[in-house]
Order: sequence, then structure tokens, then C-alpha cells
Amino acid sequence: MSLIKTIPELEAWLDTMGRHGRTLGFVPTMGCLHAGHLSLIKAARAQNDLVVASVFVNPTQFAPGEDYENYPRDIGRDYALAREAGADAVFNPRAAEIYIPGASTAVEVTGEITKKLCGASRPTHFKGVTTVVNILFNLIRPDRAYFGQKDAQQALIVKKMVRDLHMPVEVVVCPIVREADGLAMSSRNVYLSPEERRQAVCLNEALGKAEEYAASGAASSTSAARLTEIMESHINSRSLAVIDYVRVLDSETLADIAAIAPGQKALAAVAVKFGKTRLVDNRVLPVG
Ligand code: PAJ
Repeated sequence: MSLIKTIPELEAWLDTMGRHGRTLGFVPTMGCLHAGHLSLIKAARAQNDLVVASVFVNPTQFAPGEDYENYPRDIGRDYALAREAGADAVFNPRAAEIYIPGASTAVEVTGEITKKLCGASRPTHFKGVTTVVNILFNLIRPDRAYFGQKDAQQALIVKKMVRDLHMPVEVVVCPIVREADGLAMSSRNVYLSPEERRQAVCLNEALGKAEEYAASGAASSTSAARLTEIMESHINSRSLAVIDYVRVLDSETLADIAAIAPGQKALAAVAVKFGKTRLVDNRVLPVG
């Protein structure tokens, strides 16, 4: 297992590993690894000859005033966890190496898919994500890349970029990994105070209530407005929760829907702030 800090080291490693004829799985992360990230590394391990994880806190996906400087960083711990989960190498470059001096090129997916949900609250975020994912794909040239359903919109946008630009990589989306009480694992959960942490489970609970109602057979069980209302009223019952968005949209295009049509899948997506910490979660409805 190698800790790779520079692009020349990465090139040399890919050469010595006999890259040709072997499949390479890639797991991009911003570090502070938890079981959610590790599930992606394990999936990559099961499906590929070589596995590379990156740990790079990408400056271009943070807006001024967001938590770029304070984002939790611990490469020693991340390296050990990634190795245990089956990574062959961790790529941990400096920002100045990824973004060369004078670089002025970005990759941006346009349209509804990037404008809604997190794109509405963080208008420059996804452009930063697609640009860095593109750069990392160009450097690592994976056969498969692994993303979490936890960031459902990010996974849809990356898939769209890969399709639109004919990029030779397969995007694999893995299920959300949760804490024992149902809170979706996130590097940002460490920011929560004990009381915020207790209340944060309301995101998953609200999605569970929507899931139950969607399966109830009630006349309005497919209504996006009714499902949204059920989730909002549950989250609002928690004193420290401030809703950023609660939406029910088409699960592939993120188009608005009035109701979940027979055979259609909808994405119930929530973003909630606890103090300065913004948490996201989602469920594809109907489940199963
Ligand atoms: P980061 O937030 O570190 O997440 C890295 C990957 O882990 C993403 O694909 C994310 O969806 C997945 N992940 C996070 N929590 C998860 C959970 N509880 N269950 C399953 N998967 C989970 O997402 C990013 O970094 C960045 O935007 C990145 C893609 C690395 C580009 O900078």
C-alpha cells in the first residue's frame, strides 16, 4: 500500500503496477474517512485488480465562508483505514498540484440537474466537483469510479458528465451507510453538539415516514406535496433543525413532479442545518 503525494509519484506507481490489462477502481474522497467511504473502497476492491482512493479537500467546491479551512483532515488515520478496507494506494496531492498556476478551465454540467437541491443553496459547488473529478479521472484513468448514494445529486451529475463527455469510465453508485440510529454517515457529523447529534436522526426518520406513506396505498400516497409536508412537519418538530430544502423530484432528471407515476422512481431529498452544520439525506421512493 502506497501513500502518493505527487503526480510524478502517481505516474510511476501506475507504471510499476502494470496498469495495462488490469482493471483499476477509483474512490474519490475528501478524507476524514468513515464506514460510508470504506464501503466504496470495499466495493472497488471486490470488482477491480487495483484500487486507488484519493484524499483531497477540493478548494473549488467550497464557497467563501464555507468550511474549507476547517474541514477535518487526518491523513495518517485515513491512510490506515483505506489500507484496511483494501486500497492499494492513497493519492493525497496538494491543491497547487491539482490546480496548476494559471489554470482557468472548469467542467460544468448545466441545466436543472445542477440548479436544484444543493445546487440552489451552493451555486458554485457542483462546478468545483465536476472539475476536480475530471482532473482526478485524467490523472488516474480508472475503469470504474465509486460514488455514494448519500450525495445522490452529485452521483447523478457525475454520471451525466461521464455520459455527455463520453468519458471511458463506469460510474458505480453504492448505498448509503448509516449509524446505528439511522443518521447517514458524514465527515461533517463530527461538528454536531451532543444535542444536535440526537436531533439529527430526524432526517432519516422523516424519509422513513415518507417511505411509509408512499407505501400506504392512501389516495394521496404518491403526491409530492403531501410527502414533502410529512417530512417537513417531522423535521420542524425538532427544535434545533432548520430546513434548507425538502423535495420530491424525479430520481434521474430531478424534474419537478406532482405525483410519483406508476413505475416511476422519485428522489425524496432533504438538507437540514443544525447550527452551522448542514446535513443531507435521501431515499428513492417507492422503496423496493
Ligand atoms: P466526500 O464527502 O468525502 O465523499 C466521498 C464519497 O463518499 C462520495 O461519493 C460520497 O457520496 C460517499 N459517501 C459519503 N458518505 C457516505 C455514506 N454515509 N454512505 C455511502 N457513501 C457515502 O463527495 C465528496 O467527498 C467530494 O465531492 C468528491 C467527490 C471527493 C470531489 O471532491
